[in-house]
Amino acid sequence: MAGPDRAVRVAVLGCGVVGTEVVRLLTRQSADLAARVGAPLELVGVAVRDLATPRDAVVDPDLLTTDAEALVDRADVVVEVMGGIEPARALLLRAIAGGAAVVTANKALLGQDGPTLYAAADAAGVDLYFEAAVAGAIPLVRPVRESLAGDRITRVLGIVNGTTNYVLDQMTSAGLELDQAVEQAQALGYAEADPTADVEGFDAAAKAAILASLAFHTRVSVDDVHREGITAVSAQDVEAARETGYVIKLLAIAERVTASPDGAAPVDGVVVRVHPALVPDTHPLAGVRGAFNAVFVEAEAAGELMFYGRGAGGLPTASAVLGDVVTVARHRVQGGKGPIESRYADLPVHPIGRATTRYQIRLRVADRPGVLAQVAQAFAAHDVSIKAVRQSPPVDGGGATDLLVVTHRADDAALSATVERLAGLDVVDGVLSVLRVEGA
Ligand code: NDP
Ligand code: HSE
Repeated sequence: MAGPDRAVRVAVLGCGVVGTEVVRLLTRQSADLAARVGAPLELVGVAVRDLATPRDAVVDPDLLTTDAEALVDRADVVVEVMGGIEPARALLLRAIAGGAAVVTANKALLGQDGPTLYAAADAAGVDLYFEAAVAGAIPLVRPVRESLAGDRITRVLGIVNGTTNYVLDQMTSAGLELDQAVEQAQALGYAEADPTADVEGFDAAAKAAILASLAFHTRVSVDDVHREGITAVSAQDVEAARETGYVIKLLAIAERVTASPDGAAPVDGVVVRVHPALVPDTHPLAGVRGAFNAVFVEAEAAGELMFYGRGAGGLPTASAVLGDVVTVARHRVQGGKGPIESRYADLPVHPIGRATTRYQIRLRVADRPGVLAQVAQAFAAHDVSIKAVRQSPPVDGGGATDLLVVTHRADDAALSATVERLAGLDVVDGVLSVLRVEGA
């Protein structure tokens, strides 16, 4: 324990969008933070890649270093906001081995190799906190990991990527094509120069893995997450959604499922998925605009909880980082320790095929007698029940038409088989889109 007579030494690894704001809050709020912790927080250094990069005036140049290892070795609390897998992982493991508490915003690292960090922190008896890794400023990790530890979470569903929410929102509200909306997101600093991690769903998948691991007391890696990004979403999909009372959102969903693989005895497990989905335009998630995030957590005793706020950005994310810094510093000064990894349930992670939901399928078909019957037969063959069918005015000079088919709840595997069958029918010119329907 550091004790109230000695400052808690804090090292910050990274001084970019988030790191700069962490330094700002540590500096500007030092008196309040000291009072809350019970001892001053002393910023002992800030590790960067390039000392020549111009920095915000709040960053004291004398604190900058490129020797992150030496910095880690003289800290009680190490804040990792550099991102990427290496050297972030090696530096965090070094910090933990040296007895420092660690705070990280690095969802990519946690989603890929969280267990290595948890195991090291558990073995060393030090804190590992990561509130900022999921949904930026929104307190979500702590509610799931601590506040709901006495409950049984059944489902976590929400928007956890601000960039893609901004892009889809612009496609919906301003009628932009995907590429135009991504360019706008880049101009505003939401999307990076290479937007792959956001638009292909990698960022959301890492966050989904972190949330699922906490919610279900089970190790879930990013590789266990079914992932579809937003690159296949077209302006026509957005328009078709609007016409039927829906908006398209990129959702992360982690849920308990009971599946009976191949007729065997039911097995409890989890399915974790990230994909674009249709959400009714009256649902609270439909009202989440711009780069905001919102997540619903459903628990047996608590019922449904909604968390909403800024999921990205330097200052909002720094707020979550500082909350963790205060917590782990308090533990140093006042005693105590945060939770260790909870993975006792060890539930199997089922493939997406075992998820059940509703679907909206758009098909271009020949406009002649008997076509609807063949389409209906394809659904029936896989036990997928149709809820509604809507036919558009004729296209292609009258020889074809677009059908919009909405199903009742069905297994994802059955729906995939249905789509495959539909695509093979002579009367089907093309499957234009397949979207899951959530929140209805
Ligand atoms: P930036 O790219 O803006 O900043 C990264 C910083 O880390 C830079 O200062 C860079 O140094 C430094 N850095 C990178 N590699 C090294 C290295 N090998 N050695 C020393 N320093 C290094 O990233 P962000 O601030 O946007 O993100 C940081 C972390 O926070 C990531 O894990 C990200 O996923 C997470 N996060 C980010 C959010 C956001 O809105 N930006 C929201 C939530 C989480 P230099 O300046 O010299 O290049
Ligand atoms: N790229 C992420 C987003 C940053 O757009 O939500 C926050 O994790």
